[in-house]
Amino acid sequence: MARNDGRMALSFVVDPVLSSALRDEVVQLWVDVTNAGGAVGFVGPVTVDEVRPVAEAAFAGVESGIDRLVVGLDDGRVVALLFVVDNRFGLKAHWRVLKRVMVLPGSQGLGYGAALMRQAADVGRALGLDGLQVTVRDGHGLDGFYRKVGYREVGRVPGALRIGPGDDRDELFMWLDLR
Ligand SMILES: CC(C)(COP(=O)(O)OP(=O)(O)OC[C@H]1O[C@@H](n2cnc3c(N)ncnc32)[C@H](O)[C@@H]1OP(=O)(O)O)[C@@H](O)C(=O)NCCC(=O)NCCS
Repeated sequence: MARNDGRMALSFVVDPVLSSALRDEVVQLWVDVTNAGGAVGFVGPVTVDEVRPVAEAAFAGVESGIDRLVVGLDDGRVVALLFVVDNRFGLKAHWRVLKRVMVLPGSQGLGYGAALMRQAADVGRALGLDGLQVTVRDGHGLDGFYRKVGYREVGRVPGALRIGPGDDRDELFMWLDLR
């Protein structure tokens, strides 16, 4: 796949200051990714007002110090992000779940997603985790992306996600071992 110079400009920040401007930027990115068909917790079309409460709950987890937020910046603009979410369960304290893995629609296919996932693995190692899990909506070919960055399918719940009437999708569990 073609790489362009934009890839070179990508830089990452872990747990950025959650200013109101950054929150607005993240919510808008989340809306744009969803409305372009992305599988990040909603079925499009969605509005800022629908995404904001879900985003604010995710920000609260980061602000409390339990979860982590990784943002990828291109020329100062947020073009990629994910949350590293604690299981909030003592028996699962040695691994975490990546949620809302997303790249700005116009910036997809440039290697940003792979770079974001490498950054998440670095965060996981720095936290001393044994592994990272990601939950994937079947039917988008997304498992192909996660396989490319080292994850393997470890489970599947048939029809777990009701996208719409008559459109149930499997939920895949994919895992990256960090040990
Ligand atoms: C999934 C997503 C994060 C990938 O980011 P990206 O920047 O487009 O991916 P990259 O350019 O880094 O691709 C890395 C590799 O994965 C492959 N890949 C990317 N998307 C893929 C897909 N949907 N199916 C199969 N392979 C894919 C690329 O071809 C590339 O392979 P290569 O190294 O052989 O060239 C991005 O497309 C996205 O934000 N999608 C919408 C949101 C979403 O659905 N997120 C998933 C939540 S579970």
